[in-house]
Amino acid sequence: MSEAPHLPVLYKSIIPALQPKSPGRYVDGTLGAGGHAAGILEASVPKGELLGLDLDPAALAIAREKLAPFGKRAHIVQASYTAMKTEAAELGWQAVDGIVLDFGVSSMQLDRPERGFSFLNDGPLDMRFSLNTALSAADLVNTFSEEDLADIIFR
Ligand SMILES: C[S@@+](CC[C@H](N)C(=O)[O-])C[C@H]1O[C@@H](n2cnc3c(N)ncnc32)[C@H](O)[C@@H]1O
Repeated sequence: MSEAPHLPVLYKSIIPALQPKSPGRYVDGTLGAGGHAAGILEASVPKGELLGLDLDPAALAIAREKLAPFGKRAHIVQASYTAMKTEAAELGWQAVDGIVLDFGVSSMQLDRPERGFSFLNDGPLDMRFSLNTALSAADLVNTFSEEDLADIIFR
């Protein structure tokens, strides 16, 4: 199946809002295919650096290829944006100049029925961003109590 290229929808808003500069330090907590990250690195030549985090190894593989031309200015880690502070500290960063969070699913995830996010095609009820996550959505809805599910949805 051919897939549509991933177009980062917030690109035109994010780059002018962030105004990346050299030598700035930036975090993209939802790296995806790396479209926003590439824009930040381009706008912050020659010394701007970016830490990109995502849970999805498939997205990270695409981002690694896309960001390869930026060499050591791009730091790519498989982790949740909730680990941003720890991952930044690993790089010796105590502060950053900007953070981008583009929440949600990417078109690459929607386009692959086996990931379980598709509205258009049948697939297993998986919905995990990382296959390292123990429970799929099917596990949750079939084993959690009604009260626990209501609590998850409420929170
Ligand atoms: C809308 S896409 C981001 C697209 C990205 N801005 C780009 O330029 O390609 C959202 C991304 O967030 C990731 N994601 C979802 N939950 C996450 C989490 N807790 N931590 C890090 N990334 C997460 C998804 O795997 C997906 O790649």
